[in-house]
Amino acid sequence: MYKYNFDKMTDRKGTGSYKWDDCKNAAYPLWVADMDFEAAPPIRKALEDRVAHGIFGYNIIPDNWYDSYISWWDRRHNFKMEKDWLVFCTGVVPAISSTVRKLTEPGDNVVILTPVYNIFFNSIINNGCNVCEVPLIYRRDLLDNHTAGVETSSNLDSDCITRDIYTIDFDNMEKVLSDDKTKLLIFCNPHNPVGRIWSADELRKVGELCAKHNVTVLSDEIHCDLTDPGKEYVPFASVSETCKNISITAIAPTKAFNIAGMQTAAVSIPNLDLRKKIWRALNTDEVAEPNSFAIPVTIAAFNEGEPWLLELRRYIFENKQIVKDFLSGYPKLKLIPSEATYLLWIDCNDMGLSGEELSEKLIKETGVYLTAGEEYGKSGAGFLRMNIACPRKRLEEALELLNKVL
Ligand SMILES: Cc1ncc(COP(=O)(O)O)c(C=O)c1O
Repeated sequence: MYKYNFDKMTDRKGTGSYKWDDCKNAAYPLWVADMDFEAAPPIRKALEDRVAHGIFGYNIIPDNWYDSYISWWDRRHNFKMEKDWLVFCTGVVPAISSTVRKLTEPGDNVVILTPVYNIFFNSIINNGCNVCEVPLIYRRDLLDNHTAGVETSSNLDSDCITRDIYTIDFDNMEKVLSDDKTKLLIFCNPHNPVGRIWSADELRKVGELCAKHNVTVLSDEIHCDLTDPGKEYVPFASVSETCKNISITAIAPTKAFNIAGMQTAAVSIPNLDLRKKIWRALNTDEVAEPNSFAIPVTIAAFNEGEPWLLELRRYIFENKQIVKDFLSGYPKLKLIPSEATYLLWIDCNDMGLSGEELSEKLIKETGVYLTAGEEYGKSGAGFLRMNIACPRKRLEEALELLNKVL
C-alpha cells in the first residue's frame, strides 16, 4: 500500500516539458531522466508558501540550506560533510562544465568511463578538451551463462552477478591517466546508464590511481538517492583521505525528488585549494546564485521528503520487476541487472539492429521512445536505455505495445 499516489496519470503535454514536448511525437516517452510523478507534498507546500509571499528578489544561501545537505548525507549516507565544503550551484551540469573550464586548458584530456551520461561528452568537447573514453569491462558471457542456468531473469538479483557484469578497466584507466595531458576524471556514482553502485574498494582504487597521476576526480552523485530499496551507495569522498583530497562531488535533490526544473545543486569540496578554484569558477560563470525557489525546495526535500522518497524507491523497484519479467520472455533482449537509478540498460545486440535503428523503429511502430545506447559512447552501441519512472499503467501500456512489435 502506498500513501502517495504514484499511479496518478498527470498529462504533461503542453507544459513545456522537455520529456513530453520534445519527444519525436512519441506517446510513451520513456527517455530523458525525468519522472512522471508529482513532487512530494512538502516540496509543493514550500513552493506555494514562497509564491504566496509574492516578492522574488535576489537570494542568499541561508544556513539551513547547508544544514539540510549535511544532515541528509549524515543520516542517509553515513557521511559527515562540513559546511565549508559546500558551494551552491544552479545544476550538476553547470558545475561539471565550469570545473572542466577551470581545471583544464584546451587540448587537455578528460576521462570518462563509458557508456556514461551523454552530457559529459558535451561538457568536455565544448571546452576544447579531448574525450578519453575508458570503456567499462562488459561481461556479456557472465550474463549469458547466468541466464542459461536459471528459469527466470529475476534470479539475477545477487549482488555478485550484478557487480561483475560491468566493472572498471583499471589497466586501461591507468594508461590514460598517466598521459601528461590528462587533468580530470568525470566519474558517475551510481553509474548512469548501467546502474552500478561502485564499491568502496573500487572507489578507493580510482582515487589512488588518480592521485598517483595528479588527476582531479569530479564525482557526479546526482543519482545517489535512487538506489534499490535496501541498497546503499558509497560517497566517493568517504572512502579514503586520498579520495577526499582530490575530489569535487556534485550532489542535488533534483533527480531523486523530480525537481530538475528548479535548478538547484551543490558541490562538496573538502580540499581548500581545490574549493577556492571551483568557487571562483562557479562565480565567474555566474552559476553560483539561486533563483527564489532553488533553496526552499532543497530544504523541504531533504528535511521532509524522506517518507515520499522511500515509497518512490519501492514503486520504481516494482516497475523494474515488471520490466524484468516482461523481458525474460525475449531471449534477444538482455536486461542488465542493476542496483540503482530508474534507468534500465538493455542489451539488444542480438536483434541485429543498432540501438539507433531499434529506437527509431520502436518510436515509429509503437510510439514508445527509448534512448539509443550510442548516445552514451561507443560501448553503448546496440543497447537501449529505458526510463521506468512513470505510473504503472503507462509502463504496462508501453510494454503491451512493445510486445506487439517484438
Ligand atoms: C549523471 C547525471 N548528471 C547530471 C544530470 C543533470 O544534472 P542537472 O540537471 O543538475 O544539470 C543528469 C540528468 O539526467 C545525470 O543523469
